[in-house]
Amino acid sequence: MRGSIVVGNARESVDAVAYIAGREKLDWLRSIDPLVDHVVGLGDFRAELEETVLLYRRDGVPRVILSGAGGEDEWIGHVERLRVAVAAAVRRARRLKSVKRLGIVVEESLVEKAAGEGAGKAWAIEQALVAADMANYAYSLHGRGEKPHVLAEVRLEPGDDEVLEAARAVAEGVRLARDVANAPANIMNPEGLEQAARELASRLGLGIRVLHCEELESLGMGGILAVGGGSDVEPRLIILEYHGGGKRVAVVGKAVAFDAGGLDLKPPQAMLEMKYDKSGGAAALGIVAAAARLRLPVDLVALIPAVENMPSGRSYKPLDVIKMYNGVTVEIGNTDAEGRLIMADALAYAAERYKPDIMLDLATLTGAAVVALGNHAAALMSNNEELASKLEKAAWRAGEPAWRLPTWPVYEKQLESKTADTNNVGGRWAGVITAAKFLEKFVDGRPWAHLDIAGVAWVQEKGPWKPYYPSGATGWGVRTVIELLRSL
Ligand code: BES
Ligand code: MN
Ligand code: ZN
Repeated sequence: MRGSIVVGNARESVDAVAYIAGREKLDWLRSIDPLVDHVVGLGDFRAELEETVLLYRRDGVPRVILSGAGGEDEWIGHVERLRVAVAAAVRRARRLKSVKRLGIVVEESLVEKAAGEGAGKAWAIEQALVAADMANYAYSLHGRGEKPHVLAEVRLEPGDDEVLEAARAVAEGVRLARDVANAPANIMNPEGLEQAARELASRLGLGIRVLHCEELESLGMGGILAVGGGSDVEPRLIILEYHGGGKRVAVVGKAVAFDAGGLDLKPPQAMLEMKYDKSGGAAALGIVAAAARLRLPVDLVALIPAVENMPSGRSYKPLDVIKMYNGVTVEIGNTDAEGRLIMADALAYAAERYKPDIMLDLATLTGAAVVALGNHAAALMSNNEELASKLEKAAWRAGEPAWRLPTWPVYEKQLESKTADTNNVGGRWAGVITAAKFLEKFVDGRPWAHLDIAGVAWVQEKGPWKPYYPSGATGWGVRTVIELLRSL
């Protein structure tokens, strides 16, 4: 069953009603009814962040959930307090199989504080709705096992139809990104990715072109061809266009449907997570979907290089020299640094063909990003101060923190090669940054920002832990880029 968010009176015709308030608003909770007053009076609910309590009553809605939004001084900020509290209520309700419909009532001053951090009250309520939908997500698996329980409906109060429409657009984008990233690599291979993109394009009336081997060869896309050559499934470059008028923006998303490492094969444990190596491309799909549904005033093009990085008799090899779309030659130091090679062709092509005002890329590019920042922030690198600062702010507002790392020229030395213009790897140190320095060679000097989402694209052993990240893919990047596009 696919959940649905709605707005309206949350205290009637629901199986459970949740009340959301911060620590300073225990009085508001106590005024709800004698039962809640009693429980709060006992001191058994203090509205700490992620604290929930479930109560039963005989009259009215039979189940009451209280979900805390913590204090005013939480480091995560007010809108994130709101998201977390709403999501925690959804998660609590989901544990009860008999609950199909959940109402959520948010205390007013929390909405107002959240509103101050973004574009006002409607924006804050939209954020809460999207968080509710994200918490209500489950990847629908094939087979006969018991399916995870999701709520048929989550109704938020306050809210109106306009807010709801915007929230659904964003939430659907996140769902799409998650579905694509979560899908097993045998189904969502480069062929499957093309199919998903075509379905999206016809549903939303987007322009679509898919370049296959023949065209990739005549265009000279040596990166995509080299990486994709080791697989029995043809590599391709998927291009989606949405024309809303306004600034020209290109979003490039890494879609390595499966990263076995190529001839520099990964060990089994590392390979187990590599169906998620298409998360950047999945996010790019979610971004165009949401932007189109929101009718944002931008000319957006999404470029998704889709490949499998496999070992075989046709694989590219260590020390090969390949030639990229923009003519730059690359010595292969490691076939497992494949993401930057396919991204490079897509970036160079985007720069030349679309002349974008802004280029963005999202990629699960390096394990080094996880070493540097763990699972709680993406790594952000850019050649443009204004764009970097806008993106950093958009990411924080969206609840998807991104932390900037430098891209000073001195790092480029690590990429030097004796046989080609550059190597594809830069050694052990600053691996996040040298990967970005490699990509920078392909953006033709245009304003560009790179998000390395290796640590945040799916829920790993150490996070990211948020009640709106149930498990598997997080859809990271969809909300950030939508926030950025709205701020242009
Ligand atoms: N897809 C991986 C990066 C990755 C690793 C993402 C772990 C998430 C979790 C990427 O293609 C890769 O293998 N990178 C190498 C680069 C190295 C060979 C320079 C890495 O990070 O080890
Ligand atoms: Mn790799
Ligand atoms: Zn990879």
